Amino acid sequence: MTATTTAQESSSETTTKNDAIVLFGASGDLAKKMTFVSLYHLCRRNLLNMPIIGVAFSDWDDETLRKNARAAIEATGTEIDESIWKSMAERMHFVQGDYTKPDTYERVKEALGSSKFPLFYLEIPPGLFLTTVQGLHQAGLTKDARVVIEKPFGHDYESAVELYAELSKLLNDDQLYRIDHYLGKNAVQDIMVWRFANRMFEPLWNNANIESIQITMSESFDVSDRGSFYDKVGALKDVIQNHIMQVIGLLAMDPPSKSEPDAIHAQQLEVFQSMRPIQTEDYVRGQYEGYLDVDGVAPNSETETFVALKVHIDSWRWAGVPFFIRAGKNLADTATEAIVVFRRPPLRLFTETGCPDPERNQLRFRLGHNDGVQMKVQALDPASKMASKAVVLNVDFSEALGEEKLPYEQLLGDALDGNATRFATQKIIEGTWTALARVLDNPGPVHVYKPGTMGPDLADKMIKEYGGWIEPMGPASDMPA
Ligand code: BG6
Repeated sequence: MTATTTAQESSSETTTKNDAIVLFGASGDLAKKMTFVSLYHLCRRNLLNMPIIGVAFSDWDDETLRKNARAAIEATGTEIDESIWKSMAERMHFVQGDYTKPDTYERVKEALGSSKFPLFYLEIPPGLFLTTVQGLHQAGLTKDARVVIEKPFGHDYESAVELYAELSKLLNDDQLYRIDHYLGKNAVQDIMVWRFANRMFEPLWNNANIESIQITMSESFDVSDRGSFYDKVGALKDVIQNHIMQVIGLLAMDPPSKSEPDAIHAQQLEVFQSMRPIQTEDYVRGQYEGYLDVDGVAPNSETETFVALKVHIDSWRWAGVPFFIRAGKNLADTATEAIVVFRRPPLRLFTETGCPDPERNQLRFRLGHNDGVQMKVQALDPASKMASKAVVLNVDFSEALGEEKLPYEQLLGDALDGNATRFATQKIIEGTWTALARVLDNPGPVHVYKPGTMGPDLADKMIKEYGGWIEPMGPASDMPA
């Protein structure tokens, strides 16, 4: 029997709030860039009145933890309120230790004092996930705990199943939270709300009306100082298997019967169960020129820093609608967008000699750096006799909806409350690995591209007959019609 049938899979919500949070990997990059500032905002909202314990191998103490946490929060541009910081800092403690040594967990236990329901957040290398949970278990710390595990959960289908089988010996499924920060982004979750809280989109959301869907995750920065991590992972495992697959899940799912985790996850799982395993011919890999000079990258590395894929979902709703995906580093722009491209109307009524063909309608979800939704539709061009012209309807979420929570603020807050809605289930993770199995086994060649471009030319060929890639937009005010 596989892990999925031996362990109880239930993501139902429990109501007990954790009474301490323990960060394994407190001296790491993720803690510095995302976690401390997220915890600060949770404190600011009065949602984190509990001990905050940092654990790391680094030679830190309580004061170093506080000093580095404060510097990390300030580096994000957050203005610190001194009274909030004082209360947060007083509750911060550091435990130095090696995750492979039992005495580390004894010290964590000591630091936890009278806490009965700790939350352990493992922002550590994936090879240490199991060791750490085993250490916590041996120290008697897992009974009423929640454990939040960073990505990647496994490195392929088999390893994800195996990791889960081992973790299931130590934890119930409702204690385990597989975190993916894309699921903590308001604009990403909004895809589901946009579709199912409005009446006007869902009737069109199928292969009769939609021609194709594109997702671009473009980053203009390079691998920087993450060479040794990135070279072992590559773009497919770094962002496609997790972040982009979750976006596809939200775009392609059927309506859930309720807005509760089990109902939502069941519909998302269907998407991955209907996803056709991606074939090598539908997969392009690129590597930016200069990647081989990055510190920590192997001299002849064939790791991809760019991927483009064509995904098919063999369901009644999506048969015949390709999903085109591309993601990469050192590209022309930084933006994540999903664009739904509709079919043309059955008759082209409003064209004139010399006018270009009317564009297809587009619904563009901006999922990072400039969150919002944009619709491209046709309107009567006053300069014509009776021809249409594309115009843009735009909503900018920061203007329309106000302040958003940071993704980790949302997700760690949810985990502390026992709310699993925005976390991936084991079956969903396994489904995403299954869809990628063939290209993981046979990755094919890697094509070099110039920094500042949108990846290798081959990626353009794959989408040519669907009108080519639609480039990400700048800020709302710069948007051309
Ligand atoms: C991380 C990846 O999970 O997501 C990074 O490891 C990537 O390589 C990052 O840059 C992108 O996140 P965001 O929120 O900036 O789009």
